[in-house]
Amino acid sequence: KQDDDQLIIDAGQKQFGATTCSSCGMVYSADNPEDHFQHTQFHQRFLDSIKFVGWKKERVVAEFWDGKILLVMPDDPKYAIKKAEEVRCVADSELGFQQVTLSRPTKAKTYLFINTERMVVGCLVAEFIRQAYRVLEQPDQQKDMTRDDFMERHRTWCCSTVPEQALCGISRIWVFSLARRQGIATRMLDTVRSTFMYGSHLTKEEIAFSDPTPDGKLFATKYSNT
Ligand code: ACO
Ligand code: ZN
Repeated sequence: KQDDDQLIIDAGQKQFGATTCSSCGMVYSADNPEDHFQHTQFHQRFLDSIKFVGWKKERVVAEFWDGKILLVMPDDPKYAIKKAEEVRCVADSELGFQQVTLSRPTKAKTYLFINTERMVVGCLVAEFIRQAYRVLEQPDQQKDMTRDDFMERHRTWCCSTVPEQALCGISRIWVFSLARRQGIATRMLDTVRSTFMYGSHLTKEEIAFSDPTPDGKLFATKYSNT
């Protein structure tokens, strides 16, 4: 199953004329005028959104050779909240989330990974929760299912019905496409575990991912087992 998916993805990227912009990461076909236009529209707006100019007060919660993690709290200065929101919107549009507001904005903590080129290449939103439902391994999808069947099974297969204790819900996790597979998401989560609750270190079981995407599931499965 995995191999099939991989093949499809590769075939897509080798499409005629498809290029990946080396600064914004957008994949587009340079010789298609519409694509070209869309890229021009997207490029600068995206780079402006993830640009980090530096703040008077920064709550640095982790430092690495290739960057640092800042924590933004609900009562922080406006410039910090605004940047956190801007990056969250970038992540949301990539995730296809329509709803832009958080369920409880006053409680959410946002973690931003800033790289050495002063770009926000990672964003994680964590919220306090009481319980969560474990995502179960999904069996192969059947080919002759209707969409309703699929949605129904998807839902029932996807999550256990038994609530489990959790303390921290990850409502968003996003890493800039050109910065993936460098352990940025892993380091952001490790940092959440040690800083989310004052004075205590959360276990991996106390962290829950809400509505994970396929990428999110692959990452979460790997993270929980290591
Ligand atoms: N495919 C397979 N395995 C993966 C993938 C993937 N796409 N992404 C991560 N992993 C696994 C790997 O085992 C990886 O280790 P390795 O690189 O040594 O093999 C391990 O997880 C750790 O990965 P990181 O490098 O820490 O993860 P990364 O920084 O690349 O970020 C993320 C992962 C956040 C899922 C990123 O791919 C992303 O932003 N995707 C698009 C947005 C998205 O779907 N976010 C999740 C939404 S779910 C939610 O928000 C609750
Ligand atoms: Zn670009």
